Amino acid sequence: MNVNRRVLTLDEFTIQQLRHIPNATGELSGLLRDIGLAAKRVNVEVNKAGLVDILGDAGSVNVQGEDVKKLDIFANDQFTGVLHHGISCAGIGSEELDDFVAFDDAVSCQSKYVCLFDPLDGSGNIDVNVSIGTIFGVYRRVTERGEVASKEDFLQKGTQQVAAGYIIYGSSTMLVYATRRGVNGFTLDPSIGEFTLSHPDIKCPPTGKIYSVNHGNFFQYDEGVKKYIDICQKKTKTTGGPYTQRYIGSMVADVHRNLIKGGIFMYPGTIDKPKGKLRLMYECNPFAFIVEVAGGKATNGKQRILDVEPTELHQRSPMFIGSKDMMAELETCMSEK
Ligand code: AHG
Ligand code: MN
Ligand code: MN
Repeated sequence: MNVNRRVLTLDEFTIQQLRHIPNATGELSGLLRDIGLAAKRVNVEVNKAGLVDILGDAGSVNVQGEDVKKLDIFANDQFTGVLHHGISCAGIGSEELDDFVAFDDAVSCQSKYVCLFDPLDGSGNIDVNVSIGTIFGVYRRVTERGEVASKEDFLQKGTQQVAAGYIIYGSSTMLVYATRRGVNGFTLDPSIGEFTLSHPDIKCPPTGKIYSVNHGNFFQYDEGVKKYIDICQKKTKTTGGPYTQRYIGSMVADVHRNLIKGGIFMYPGTIDKPKGKLRLMYECNPFAFIVEVAGGKATNGKQRILDVEPTELHQRSPMFIGSKDMMAELETCMSEK
């Protein structure tokens, strides 16, 4: 055994990062530790989902009108619970809850951050053993500390995120998070139950060979998107195509793969649903932040995702995200129409 081998855990890493930030209080490290703890609990349940009676619909419908799976509720409770009991979070917004929840106890009122999350993304894939995930974005509250957090703390533009991340429950379980300083990935080492730094300083390759989109909706996309998909399927000198099409139906897994390998992920608006399916506050914004810090781009087809002024917690947005050269090609197609 190599006794000199030193692998940083998530806690060690976030605490080391504090050295670079004057006046840091360690609250963000605490919040990430809380999220890591909830992730480990969810991971245990995800891994035994086939063994216990945790599969299937919980018999209710969430605020988007979709069936709620039991694991969605379990994950929501875990993330809400750790963030409430920790000392860093003044309130949360979740896909599974109708409205924001501001924690009104004395400790939480003093907390610096609010967190918006999709507790379980890709939950339609649980029953068939395909990767699923959790997505989160963290904002510094804008109201005074000491007060109960209010709507303006939760409805901030994506540019205001101080950190964002995701957990992927896949062939291994990973937590990836970004601050403005960079994107780092941690793989759960089940032997010690710790997330350990496995993917330091992740950069999104400027181009790639993968495009990810739901082809079933092709005839519902607008002309610019169709034109780009057409280019993806052709051999051209500029793009180096044809590209490979990969679409899991779990955004976390699709964007994670494209972030590491290079690629583009699209969930455009359709004729039936002009705003698409994905939710701005806890699906698009966190990923836009992560991918931009890694060197990629994210837009809604008209505007940078992170610049969109939000109006409601559950608003939807078209989403185009990935390697910067592929995004530039897409933007050319969309502007030419
Ligand atoms: P959720 O499970 O949180 O509702 O999100 C599922 C999302 C996203 O992960 C995925 O990219 C997309 O739905 C897939 O939608 P389609 O089946 O319409 O392609
Ligand atoms: Mn989702
Ligand atoms: Mn979800």
